Amino acid sequence: MIELVQMSDDHILQVAALEAQCFSAPWSEKAILGELTNPLSYWLVALEEDKVVGYVGSQTVMGEADMMNLAVLPEYRRQGVARCLVKTLIEKLALQGVCSLTLEVRASNAAALSLYENLGFTKVGCRPRYYTKPIEDAWILRKEWKL
Ligand SMILES: CC(C)(COP(=O)(O)OP(=O)(O)OC[C@H]1O[C@@H](n2cnc3c(N)ncnc32)[C@H](O)[C@@H]1OP(=O)(O)O)[C@@H](O)C(=O)NCCC(=O)NCCS
Repeated sequence: MIELVQMSDDHILQVAALEAQCFSAPWSEKAILGELTNPLSYWLVALEEDKVVGYVGSQTVMGEADMMNLAVLPEYRRQGVARCLVKTLIEKLALQGVCSLTLEVRASNAAALSLYENLGFTKVGCRPRYYTKPIEDAWILRKEWKL
């Protein structure tokens, strides 16, 4: 069974390993550790027993949240883990008085774009050449909700 919990010290190494596996410019272990003491940050991990199978991270400023990252272990994909992480993140943010979530996604990332659009995010802009390794445009997606 997979459960979602707030990220803690115990999860940092596995989250950093999953970052490195999924992204060409991954967050370092130190940067992820820093999120635990950042009052603006809220990260959730999906656990199967003690194994981190996915995570989502956010930072909130003035009632508006940004999604920093989202990833699921390849062998756990297409089982609804990411959908559950994002929906739960939105529920938790709403309880904190947050009413929007914005994110960037690589223009070629069809899986993530499909996930976000299914969850009600809409394209609100584009950042040309936002990503490196390889250079690529980012779509900016946003979802708002009533408290
Ligand atoms: C994108 C990612 C997080 C999706 O995780 P996941 O747990 O497999 O997603 P879910 O199973 O919750 O999928 C929910 C919906 O998203 C869409 N989706 C997910 N993966 C997809 C794929 N490979 N192709 C097309 N649509 C996809 C589908 O609409 C899916 O619903 P369905 O399975 O009922 O058709 C995962 O592929 C991943 O970690 N990718 C590498 C890191 C990454 O790109 N992160 C996003 C950065 S912005």
